[in-house]
Parts: sequence; C-alpha cells; structure tokens
Amino acid sequence: MKDKIKVGYIGIGRRGKNILKNCLVHMDDVELTAICDLYPPALELGRSLIVEQGRPEPIMTNDYMDIINNDEIDAVIVMTEWAGRAEIAAKTMYAGKYAAIEVGCAFDISECYMLIEAYEKTGMPLMMLENCCYGRREMMALRAVKEGLFGEIVHCDGGYHHVLPEEELFLDIESEKKHYRIASYINRNCENYPTHELGPISKVLNINRGNRMITLSSFASKSAGLKEFSKKLLGEESTYSNIDYKQGDIITTVITCAGGETIHLCLDTTLPRPYYSRNFTVRGTKGMYTEERKVMFLEGMEEGIENNEKEMFEKYDHPLWAEYFAEGIKGGHDGMDWLVCRAFIESIKRGENTPIDTYDTVAWMAIAPLSEMSIAMGGAPVAIPDFTKGKWINREPVVEGKYCLDKVCVDKSVKI
Ligand SMILES: NC(=O)c1ccc[n+]([C@@H]2O[C@H](COP(=O)([O-])OP(=O)(O)OC[C@H]3O[C@@H](n4cnc5c(N)ncnc54)[C@H](O)[C@@H]3O)[C@@H](O)[C@H]2O)c1
Repeated sequence: MKDKIKVGYIGIGRRGKNILKNCLVHMDDVELTAICDLYPPALELGRSLIVEQGRPEPIMTNDYMDIINNDEIDAVIVMTEWAGRAEIAAKTMYAGKYAAIEVGCAFDISECYMLIEAYEKTGMPLMMLENCCYGRREMMALRAVKEGLFGEIVHCDGGYHHVLPEEELFLDIESEKKHYRIASYINRNCENYPTHELGPISKVLNINRGNRMITLSSFASKSAGLKEFSKKLLGEESTYSNIDYKQGDIITTVITCAGGETIHLCLDTTLPRPYYSRNFTVRGTKGMYTEERKVMFLEGMEEGIENNEKEMFEKYDHPLWAEYFAEGIKGGHDGMDWLVCRAFIESIKRGENTPIDTYDTVAWMAIAPLSEMSIAMGGAPVAIPDFTKGKWINREPVVEGKYCLDKVCVDKSVKI
C-alpha cells in the first residue's frame, strides 16, 4: 500500500484545468510531479494551479515522453483531446505506469487493440475516467440493480443530450485553440460521445464480466443543426456556415448483448433543446429507473409517480454516496469528478486493477468507429469485437472496495 502517488499530468485544457483545480491539487496523497502541454499558456496555468495550493513546483515539459520516461512517476493522467491519446496511454503502460484517459472515443478500432495489447503485455491498468459511472443517480440505480429490486434487467437507454455549438464547438473558433471536436463534426458521422451513458449502463449489465456487447446498429439523421447554429452565432458569411457537416444531428444506436438485453443510445448535440440530459434509464421485470423524470418505480408502487428522487435517495442511496453526501461533496460536476479521480488513485495505492478497467475503456471507445461503419452501411449490424477474447464469460474476480462498480461494496476504511 503506497501512501502517496506521484502523478504525471498531460493536457491542461478545458477539462484538464478543471480536474487539476477542483480535484487533484486538493488530494494530500497525490503529488503532481510533472505536467505537460503543447501550449505554453496552458502549461503555465497548470503550474500556477499547483503552486497556488502550496505544492512544490512541478517539472514542466511540452514532450509527454519526458513524463513517461520519468522513473519517479507512478501514474500518468492523459487529458488531451481524442486524437493521439491512445498512443500516449499505451506508451505509459509499456513504461510500467498506471494510465488514465478522459472520456471520448477512438477514431479507429486499431487504437482499441493497441491498448489491449499494452495491457496484456504489461499488466498495467488503464482506466477511462468516466465520471458519470460515479453519478449519484447512476449509483443509486446500480445498487437497485445489484440488489435485484428491478428484477431481471431487459433494456437500458441513455443519451448525450447537450447543445454543444455555443458552449463547445464554436467556442474560440477563430483562435488557434479552436475546439478539437469541430474537426470530428466536419469529417465524421458517428456516435462520437457514448460513454457518459454507456459507462453506467455497462456496469448495470455486467458488460465484460459475464455479459458482453455483441452487435451494434447505428442510424444518422441528416445534418442541419450545426450550420443553422453557425449562421446564428458566427454569421451567414462564416466558413462554418457554409460547410456540409458529415455529422448527423441525431445518431440512434441499438446494441444487443449476449445476455439478451438491448441498449439504446442517442447522440443529440446540435439541435436546440431546453436542458441537458443523459436520459439514463434502466428497465427490468420488477421496476425501473429514469433520469428524465427522476423516478424510480418498483413493484407495488402506485402508477403516475412524478419525481420521487428525494425519497429514493433516502432509501436507496449507494453507500459510497450516502457517506459522501453526509461528509460534503467536493470537486466539479456534482461531485462525481472527485469520486472518479479517487477511484483511480486508490487503485494505484493498493496496487490493484481499476474499477473501470482496460476492457471497459476499450469496449466503450470502440463504439464510435463501429457506429461509423454501421451508419455508412445504412444501419447494418456490425459485430462488436470481444476484446476480452472469451474472458468475459468467467472473468477474473472483481476488484472489490469502496469504488467498485461491479458489486455494492461498503468500505469505510478509505476516506473519500
Ligand atoms: N468527463 C467529462 O465530463 C468531460 C468533460 C469535457 C471534456 N472531457 C474530455 O476531456 C478531454 C479533453 O477535452 P478538453 O475540452 O479539455 O480539450 P482541450 O482541447 O481544451 O484540452 C486538451 C489539451 O491537451 C493539450 N494537448 C493535446 N495534445 C497534446 C500532446 N500530444 N502533448 C501535450 N499536450 C497536448 C492541448 O494543448 C490542450 O491544452 C477529451 O477527451 C474530452 O472528451 C470530459
């Protein structure tokens, strides 16, 4: 058991900055040994966030290999954009270090195989920091599922319903720091951001631990919203108002699982809508949860329930959240950012596998390139590779502990 973890941190952009500022610099057992960014102002911002907290000056570099080759460092957190991050993570694992990457997709399935090979050759874990797996609602539903309250699980829904043009895609569009996702919307047509919903759903359905995703069919609507947003935000004459974007406005994906369950995903980021939602929904033979109406419905309850969240949290809060809520939540995104970072750090301290492991990370990353293939073939089903090579049937024992997502574990020995 290590008391303190030395971390190398790559990518101090919009997300990297927030995780550093709201989470890592406040963790006594994390030493931010070295930071890296290609963009000098980002690197300087990272340095100031660290020293402002009275922490030692970090090593600063614009070459991530300086971090990977540093023998002092136990773990590397990769917060860069989607392109190139799989390679950084694989090199990290080959250097004998724990790796974490942010959410997001692969561009090509070969990136997934590269990461699996790195894990299987080195045994070094890779964790996608999918914060929504640690959301309070998702964890309450997970507990209900694991305790059998919903009966047999049959279907799950989820989506990324988030209007991105103003907040992200066209933000800083004329500057050298234009948003990396815009290139994806111009050049690709796929389910490019499934993990906020698919992560928690995979844990509900025991994906890679007794179950697996078998096929996927994806369908794309036409693309009209982004051009319209561009005209409104950037003007009719802007280059971005005159691009024929490849990315459809609504991407609908249906996944079938070995256990007979179906998963429905929706990417919805370029049409107007009044609120953000992940539409996290779990349907079983004895009950259901739906985030849209904030309702948990169990056998015997009266029909017509609207928003029983408060009562359900009181009864069925996941033990991790019950403790966390009582102590006071920390960090960003309603507290789940802190939890996902703690899950990673605790795994390193204990020298164990991570609760979101390499197989989970890769299975979720694969959805984008597979959906791109399916869309290109008019929604034809595409096989989802078995990255575990059959191990999903009798998977190695689940790593138990406070941050476990495969069972409900109560563990007060570790401080949140
Ligand atoms: N979990 C969440 O809630 C959440 C929210 C937003 C973004 N994200 C994820 O965070 C990641 C980063 O997104 P962002 O919005 O911060 O992007 P960003 O473009 O703002 O930041 C990326 C940073 O990485 C740096 N970088 C890129 N390649 C590099 C390299 N090879 N070496 C060193 N530095 C490099 C860039 O200079 C930039 O500063 C994405 O994967 C995104 O999907 C997650």
